[in-house]
Amino acid sequence: MRDPGQGHDVKDLALAPAGKRRIEWADSEMPVLAAIRRRFEKERPLAGMKLSACLHVTAETANLCRTLAAGGADLVLCASNPLSTQDDAAASLVADYGLSVHAIRGEDRDTYYRHIESALAHEPAVTMDDGCDLVTALHKTRPELARALSGSMEETTTGVIRLRAMEKEGALLCPVFAVNDAMTKHLFDNRYGTGQSTLDGVIRATNILFAGRTVVVCGYGWCGRGFATRARGLGAKTVVCEVDPVRALEATMDGFPVMPIAKAAESGDIFVTLTGNTHVLRREHFEKMKDGALVANSGHFDVEIDIPALASLSEKVTEGVRENVDEYRLKKNGRRIHLLAKGRLVNLACAEGHPSAVMDMSFAVQALTTEHCIKNAGTFEAKVHSVPREIDDWVARLKLETLGVAIDELTAEQKKYLASWEIGT
Ligand code: ADE
Repeated sequence: MRDPGQGHDVKDLALAPAGKRRIEWADSEMPVLAAIRRRFEKERPLAGMKLSACLHVTAETANLCRTLAAGGADLVLCASNPLSTQDDAAASLVADYGLSVHAIRGEDRDTYYRHIESALAHEPAVTMDDGCDLVTALHKTRPELARALSGSMEETTTGVIRLRAMEKEGALLCPVFAVNDAMTKHLFDNRYGTGQSTLDGVIRATNILFAGRTVVVCGYGWCGRGFATRARGLGAKTVVCEVDPVRALEATMDGFPVMPIAKAAESGDIFVTLTGNTHVLRREHFEKMKDGALVANSGHFDVEIDIPALASLSEKVTEGVRENVDEYRLKKNGRRIHLLAKGRLVNLACAEGHPSAVMDMSFAVQALTTEHCIKNAGTFEAKVHSVPREIDDWVARLKLETLGVAIDELTAEQKKYLASWEIGT
C-alpha cells in the first residue's frame, strides 16, 4: 500500500480496526498525555506547524500523534527502526486519524530511508526523532532545511549522544532538545520501561524460565539497571558487565556480581546488551558461550552484537527456529547460540515496547517540549538544550495525581531555611 509524496505507505489499511482498539487501550493508561491533548484541542498551540516525526510506530506513539494533531500540527510520521512498527497502529493512524504514516514492519534498508525521505519531503519546521536518523538525514541531504528548523526533539540516549557529537564538531545546524535527559523521561522510561519490556521481549520470543538461570546484563546505565533488577526479581542469577568504574561500583553495591564479559561468557544462559555502543558481544565471547546460550540486544541500534563475527564463526545458521530466533551452530565446538530479533531491539521487535503508562510521561514531555519550542521559536541557538525543569515538575505532579498519590509541600519556614546561609551548627 504505497502513495507518493506525504500520503502513506503502510502494510494494510484493513488492520486499522485492530489498531484502533489497541490505541484506545493504550490511551486509557496515558492520562497525562490525554490531559495535554484536551488542552491542545482548545488552545491549538501548534496550529499550522509542519512536524516530521521519526519514532517507533506503536499504539503509544499513535496517542502522541493524536495529541500533536489536536494541537494543530500538520504531521508526517515515519519509523525509527525497521522492526518496531506495529502495522495495525500504523493503519489506524491513517484510516481513523487521517495522518500521513510511512512505516512497515520488516521494511528493508532502502524502504526505511525512503520513508525518512517522505517525512523530510514534508519540509518540517519541527522534527522529532528516536535515535537521530531523521536529523542526520536532514543535515546530510538538506542543510538549508536543517538551518531553518525551529527545533528538534530527541527521545533516546543514543540519539542524544549522536547530537552531542554533532554539536562538538560544529556540525549541528538547528536547536535540539534532549527529551531523553528530562528526569520524567529517563528515570522511568529507561529504567522501568526498558527493564520490563526487555524481559517481556526475551520471554515472548523464547518462553524461557528466568528463575535459576544466569543472566548477563551488558551495561549498567538506566536501562541496564532496570533490566538487571527485574531479571533478579524473577530469580535469575544476574551478572553485570560494565566499563564505567562508577557504574560498576554501583552495580557491585546493588548486590550484582560484576565481571568482564569474557568471564561472564562462560556461565551465562541469557545475554542482553543495553549499552548504546558497538560490538559489545563479539568473537572471543561467542567462542566461550555454553550450548544454547541466548543473545539479545535492547540498545537502539543493531550493532551491539557483532553478528557478522557470529556468522563467520558458524558452520550453519538456521533462521526462525522459533519466531524471532535464529540459531548459529559454531564450527569450533558445535555449540548453538540463539540470536533474538536479528540483534534489533528485543523489546520492540519481540514484544510491544514499553508499557503505555511509562510512555505517558515520555510523550507528555515530547508534547510539552514541542509546545515550548514553538512558543519560543527563533530564540534558541543551534545546540543541544535541556528540557525546562517546569515541564518535568508538571509531568511528575500530574502523573502522581493520576496515580492517586498526594505529597507534602514545603512550609514557609522550610522555604526560608533553604534560602538562608547564616544558620549553621
Ligand atoms: N520506545 C520504547 N517503547 C516504546 C513504545 N511503546 N512506543 C514508542 N516508543 C517506544
